Amino acid sequence: MRLLVTGAAGFIGSHLCRRLVAEGHEVVGFDDLSEGNAQVNLADVPEVKLVAGDLRDAEAVAAAATGCDAILHHAARKSVPRSVREPEAFVEVNVRGTLNVLLAAREAGASVVFASSSSVYGDQEVYPLSESFEPRPRSPYAATKLAGEALMRSWWHSYGVPTVSLRYFNVYGPFQDPASEYAAVIPRFVTACLTGSTPVIYGDGEQARDFTFIDDVVEANLLAARAPQAARGLVLNAGGGREPTTVNELLALVAVAAGNAPEPRFEPAREGDIRRSHADISLARELLGYDPKVAIDEGVRRTVDWSAARAG
Ligand SMILES: NC(=O)c1ccc[n+]([C@@H]2O[C@H](COP(=O)([O-])OP(=O)(O)OC[C@H]3O[C@@H](n4cnc5c(N)ncnc54)[C@H](O)[C@@H]3O)[C@@H](O)[C@H]2O)c1
Repeated sequence: MRLLVTGAAGFIGSHLCRRLVAEGHEVVGFDDLSEGNAQVNLADVPEVKLVAGDLRDAEAVAAAATGCDAILHHAARKSVPRSVREPEAFVEVNVRGTLNVLLAAREAGASVVFASSSSVYGDQEVYPLSESFEPRPRSPYAATKLAGEALMRSWWHSYGVPTVSLRYFNVYGPFQDPASEYAAVIPRFVTACLTGSTPVIYGDGEQARDFTFIDDVVEANLLAARAPQAARGLVLNAGGGREPTTVNELLALVAVAAGNAPEPRFEPAREGDIRRSHADISLARELLGYDPKVAIDEGVRRTVDWSAARAG
């Protein structure tokens, strides 16, 4: 198969490329390199034909998709606080860009898997989160993901383009960037424990998240790319499949794996931080056969080992 991975130089996109190449597929990557680092993330997969382009450029997206059987659409602006400051740019990249991907898919006859986000749920009263719940996006970022899901659904119903939207829940693993201003909690904690710097916990640390190891997310994509008829057009949760982990528990796990437990510093909770996130994955299990394998302690250990090997 020939596949296009948008956001190929990023965290999740680069893992998808690696797995697809290992399975013998022809892989085209598309990324504007605004966040992703191809030299680091794609260094071991020179087989990927990387196109440097912007999602907002419909012609560039269409050219990259030519001859592709499937598109795994992961390029996006993804910082929630930045989306509050720059909503226009987020709509342009995440909504207009997704439209460009769908137009290209229709032209090429390709299926599309869309990287959506648990943030579309916003605050809910009942857990675990089911796809049947009314979405309550709180940020422009979450709203763009919800709009993307709606476009995906409509492309299946209007044009017969097979689409699946996967809602991700705190994906983590090797190659996740610890350095950016909005870095995710696991790479921040891993760096702190390995270097002996102070890990920062926002709020009381009792907020719980459904951490999902990258290999399980990659598997969900491969299953979604060949989704049966019953799954097409749908939104499916791709969570970790276990009870959520609090931020305090997470730091303890990272400390054990790193063999170093620095004292955390507690800072005020970040605005808009939800208390709990937990996916009901029964629909993805039923329709795709999605069966996440990596528990949090194992995934943290693998992430710490990778970071330690890279640093040392
Ligand atoms: N990591 C998570 O926990 C998580 C959770 C929910 C959803 N997601 C979604 O999964 C996808 C991948 O996330 P990630 O963590 O790998 O992020 P990432 O930032 O590492 O990767 C995104 C890639 O998109 C590229 N990009 C950004 N704007 C672009 C544009 N205009 N044109 C072309 N490329 C552009 C960036 O350079 C980057 O390489 C995103 O759509 C994100 O919203 C991720």
